[in-house]
Amino acid sequence: MTFKDLRGETLSTVHAASAMAYDHTLDLLNSFRADPLAAITPVLAQDPDFISGHLLLAGMMLGTYDPNMNAPALASLDNAAASALAPTAREQSLHAALRAWADGDMIGGSRRLDRHLIDHPRDLLALQLAHTADLALGYTTMLRDRIARALPAWSESDASYGYVLGMQAFGLEECFAYDQAEEVGRRAVSLQPHDTWAVHAVAHVCEMQGRADDGIQWMNETRGAWEANNGLAVHNHWHLALMHLSRGEHAAALALYDKAVAPAPTALALDLADASALLWRLVMRGVDVGPRWLSLAQRWRTQGVFGAVGFLDVHAAISLAAAGDREGMAQLMRAGADAAARPGAFAEWSAVAMPASEAITAMVAGEHTRCLDLLMPVLPVAQALGGSHAQRDLLTLTAQEAAQRGGHHALASALKSQRQVHHLPFTPQRSAVLSRASRRAISLA
Ligand SMILES: [Fe+2]
Repeated sequence: MTFKDLRGETLSTVHAASAMAYDHTLDLLNSFRADPLAAITPVLAQDPDFISGHLLLAGMMLGTYDPNMNAPALASLDNAAASALAPTAREQSLHAALRAWADGDMIGGSRRLDRHLIDHPRDLLALQLAHTADLALGYTTMLRDRIARALPAWSESDASYGYVLGMQAFGLEECFAYDQAEEVGRRAVSLQPHDTWAVHAVAHVCEMQGRADDGIQWMNETRGAWEANNGLAVHNHWHLALMHLSRGEHAAALALYDKAVAPAPTALALDLADASALLWRLVMRGVDVGPRWLSLAQRWRTQGVFGAVGFLDVHAAISLAAAGDREGMAQLMRAGADAAARPGAFAEWSAVAMPASEAITAMVAGEHTRCLDLLMPVLPVAQALGGSHAQRDLLTLTAQEAAQRGGHHALASALKSQRQVHHLPFTPQRSAVLSRASRRAISLA
């Protein structure tokens, strides 16, 4: 006997209660509400043959983007394989994708999820995980296009439709379709008020367009959904702090760091990245952040994830360099060199993470020209690092600040202009104005 989830996907279990728990746990995961782990763990203890339950547990671990979670994810996949029940074709296919990812091959896992979703576009766990991998791998257009592929299989009558729209909103935002992204994101939140990924997508639109006032209002309006007991609480506080920074409200940003971004005992690696990025942005603005770097650098060391994810390594490098932790930085660079030498290594270390980490070290040492020499070649290929435009903006910001402090004023001005390229909507009217201005400039030349 089998049961189906709310989207009609077959789940291998003989217990109706397990199927209900699957839907509840996936809803928690979709909205990043805590604690999906606590929701599914007792169910699996009661029903160890529940294949989709084990896959859900493995998926939520991998979706944290924390390399420390790979081993427990593999254990969950082993439990799924040991089930006395026969897996469905969907479960077999998803299992293979998650195993590749948990083995450290996120690209291979992503490729398998890519095919899996063509056959199973209503597998919401797979869709969310593929979306997460797209973000981690820097597959920017796939953040939009993967959701576009799946959408025809969904309708407003689906209870989880809002979550699909939330992912679509973020994909549209990362592909610079800001008006569409904001419209879809706000609609997603109206359907699912606790969809903090959709809240986050609208926050990104405001960040990219320099609309700090709108962004702060939006975050306050939706605060109840994301502020506490949510997997995106740290990251959404980070976004709110960036909005305050853009208004020059340094004390407010620092207060948000102390209140909600500084690593809690349960913080994952991505939380440490947000903490590093916020302190670095404050320092770039000349703010003294006191001893905060020391505790953050120590936390990076104990997290022990160097050389596993380039995006994390760059943020660890920021913290280690700023704290003056030379031994920690040496460990990180050795791990990065090993990662770059791995067969089939992605360009994230050789082309981005390692030179960017050296550039950060040079910046801290006051070697601004050396920082620029290392960092300027990174900027065109920074997408290989993964993450969002707003997160990778940290590298361009660092180059801008190095140029300013090093007396390279034309470069500093150009980089500032580059960072503000999206601050006005590129409407047809504006395009016409720019075109007229361009023709006038040519006629004057
Ligand atoms: Fe974000």
